[in-house]
Amino acid sequence: MRTFLIIYALLIFAVVSIAGFRGSKTRNTPIEIFPDMDHQAKFHPQGANTLFRDGRDDRPKPEFTVARGTKLNQKEVFSEDFEDATIGDRPLLEGRNDDGSFYDGFPFDPSYELIELGRQRYDIHCTVCHGAVGDGAGITRNYGIAATSYHSDRIRDMPDGEIYDIIVNGKGTMFGLGHNLDLRERWAIVLYVRALQRSQLADKSDLPSAKLSELGL
Ligand code: HEC
Repeated sequence: MRTFLIIYALLIFAVVSIAGFRGSKTRNTPIEIFPDMDHQAKFHPQGANTLFRDGRDDRPKPEFTVARGTKLNQKEVFSEDFEDATIGDRPLLEGRNDDGSFYDGFPFDPSYELIELGRQRYDIHCTVCHGAVGDGAGITRNYGIAATSYHSDRIRDMPDGEIYDIIVNGKGTMFGLGHNLDLRERWAIVLYVRALQRSQLADKSDLPSAKLSELGL
């Protein structure tokens, strides 16, 4: 009984001392058992600074700085007659028509070079989950992420703009990858996804005769 009372008293003491003073304010410096990184030399927004001649913490942007990820040409952006031709181009920027429905088409001239760019970016950004041929058998499958296969009628019939939108904003459990890709790269991936879909439906008649004899068909 005595031991129990002692333990009980200690418990009450512990609860009161840990929880009891939470939320109360004090002007005294708190006891810091683990200071972590609470105190460090740093710049504050709109703070004063003796190091710089203008006395400000905020540093003005160096000339020719462009926000990350836009891949805009720095020299062009700062020239007086710069005009961003893509502004307002919803199909190109969002993969949507002006009425909000998905745009079905390709805003660049498709070329082999663009497919190659798509293949390269696809291998970097999509293969891990969707697999090299887009059948959903990426390495992440072993860890429980089942990415959709592109080889179903539903995805084959999907407007190009919808695939573009999925790349940029993600869908369901897939996160968007727009921040890693510029406009051309995103559309190049759409093109490559189409090429993958076509590759899985190809038959003998798609091959040039030289290839056919090479394969002994
Ligand atoms: C981290 C893993 C991961 C990466 C990387 C990834 N995806 Fe996905 N993707 C998924 C998953 C998971 C789904 C299924 C999402 C769902 O249905 O909730 C999916 C679904 C899709 C779909 C089908 C959506 C639908 O309507 O069913 C398409 C198309 C697609 N991804 C394209 C891409 C492309 C193109 C890339 C590369 C730019 C990419 N994904 C990168 C995991 C990924």
